[in-house]
Order: sequence, then structure tokens, then C-alpha cells
Amino acid sequence: MSKNICILPGDGVGPEVTEEAVKVLKSLDLGFDFVYGDIGFGTYERLGTPLPDETIEKVEKADATLFGAVTTPPNIPNYSSPILKLRKHFDLYANLRQCVNDEINMVIVRENTEGLYSGSERVEDNGDKAITEMIITRKGSERIIRFAFEFAKKKGFSKVTVVHKANVLRETCGLFRKVGLEVAEDYPEIEMQELLVDACAMQLIKDPKQLQVIVTTNMFGDILSDEASMLVGGLGVAYSGNIGTKKAVFESVHGSAPKYVGTHKINPTATIMAAKLMLEHLGFHKEALRVENAVKKAIADKNVTPDLDGDLTTQQVTESIIKNLEE
Ligand code: IPM
Ligand code: MG
Repeated sequence: MSKNICILPGDGVGPEVTEEAVKVLKSLDLGFDFVYGDIGFGTYERLGTPLPDETIEKVEKADATLFGAVTTPPNIPNYSSPILKLRKHFDLYANLRQCVNDEINMVIVRENTEGLYSGSERVEDNGDKAITEMIITRKGSERIIRFAFEFAKKKGFSKVTVVHKANVLRETCGLFRKVGLEVAEDYPEIEMQELLVDACAMQLIKDPKQLQVIVTTNMFGDILSDEASMLVGGLGVAYSGNIGTKKAVFESVHGSAPKYVGTHKINPTATIMAAKLMLEHLGFHKEALRVENAVKKAIADKNVTPDLDGDLTTQQVTESIIKNLEE
């Protein structure tokens, strides 16, 4: 049955990279229907909201969504990032970030709806004291940790590393750790390792090969996944999936990179790989593997943009990937 794919290009280089990913998807001839939706700061300037109701409806109706990037202006009071709103609205609780090369095979499973991203913030003392609440629930922790163990089981990983800071954040991270130990008991065949977040940040540089599946709270996952991306080619290739029980939104890890707009230097690989993860999610495993191999070949042949020391344009990289798909 034909799938309905929602494309949310967004701001900056978002439209450019999503268009490249759409070219790759179209070349697979899977009969997808593409529906485009508005999102981001440009949308806010035109319509007064960065995430219009029509966009939410399009995501709701789609089988899966591919998101480009958005610019978040720092100085507009009450403005909140529309990607964070999408994650919360559709309860996309699992943020999956894969980091793979010839030596490293790691995935970061980041809790995506609570923690320090609770949105619960206030100021006191006439603005001299600022408070952000870190909220950790048993339900939120259990489902993300179970997601990580199930993912490990399905993909043949032998270890899950639960990353926290329970020595200082005794209540919040203490609960996350406790639930981690409990869930691990249901998976005796998988080793459960605990690491404090600072030690994990160090191990990512010192000995990344020992890490397999990392599961952690929202902001630790945000930071560690940018760090981990540098082990496998940087933000130009890092991609992710925001996955809930009903909906899923796939995106590159990089932002809207306004200074690259129109330069044709932006690396489309991250968004093309996000589309690959979307194909996997939709059950097109064979096609997902073909895209992955086509991307790997383009990288091996040095058919890449300047961030990976190549001299191809954004569009030429996509052409080379599509040519690899046809071979
Ligand atoms: C990410 C980004 C977002 C986040 C920003 C754009 C709100 O950094 O997806 O990692 O903090 O989650
Ligand atoms: Mg981030």
C-alpha cells in the first residue's frame, strides 16, 4: 500500500536538504505520496506561529514525517522550538541516534519528552533567580529504557549502557538508574552497564568501540549525541528518528545553518540517512539497506561535500548516491 509521507522543510538549509532526500526517495519508486507542511521561524513570521494546526494535522495523517531544520530565535519571549512541540504533541518519546563507521557501531537512545526539557521554567527574586525543573518519571524512564533493551535485542547488541548522574542528581537520575536496573533484569542475555555522564563523555573519546547502545535522559542525550557524531564524520552525516507509539518524525541532527543557504555546500547525507531510517521504520528494510550502501559508497569514493574534504555540491552528492542506487 502506498505511504503518505509528510515533508517539513523548515528554515535555513532545511528546504535544500529535505529536497535532496525526497529525490532519493522518489528514485526508489515506492509510490509514496508527499505532502508538504510549514514549520519554523519563517512560518512564525508569516503566520504568527512556528507550528500551525494544519501542520500538526498533516503529521497526524501521514505514515511518517521527514523534518529539515528550524531556526530558533533567542530573543522572542514565549517562542518555543516547533520540533520540541512536535516531540511533545505526538509523544515521540524515543530519539534514536545511530553512529556507525567501519570501527564504531553505536546508537544513542535519548529520552525525548521530559528531563530538563520539561518546559517548566520560572524566575524569582525579580529575575535574579532562574529555575528549570528536571522531571523524571517512572513511566518515562521505563519506556525509554525498555525501548533501548528491545532495540539491542532486535539488532543483536550485547550491552546497554545506562547513562546518568545519580551521584549528584540523586532523585531524578536516581530514579532513572533504579528503573534501569529493574528493566535490565528482564534481559539477562544483555549486559547492563552504568556510566556517569561525565565518564561517558570521556569514554566516547577514549574508547568509543566499547559502547553499543547508550540510553539516557533528554539533555545528556542531546549533548552526547553531538559529541558522538564527531566520531563518525560530524554533523553532516548525523541523523535521528523521533519515535512514538503512533507517529515518527525523522531528521538530521544538524540545525538550519543559515550561513550555508544557497552555497550548495551543505552535506545532504544526514537527511538522506534520516530518510533511510524512516524507510526502515515503515518496513522497507531492503530499500533502507540499499540507500545505506549507496551513501557508504559515495563516501568511500570521496563523492562528498567540503565538510568531508570533498569538492562536490549538495546536488552532486545526491546524484552520486542515486547513481549508486541504480547500479
Ligand atoms: C536536537 C536539537 C534540539 C534539541 C534543539 C534544536 C531544540 O539540538 O535535536 O538535538 O535540543 O533537542
Ligand atoms: Mg542537539
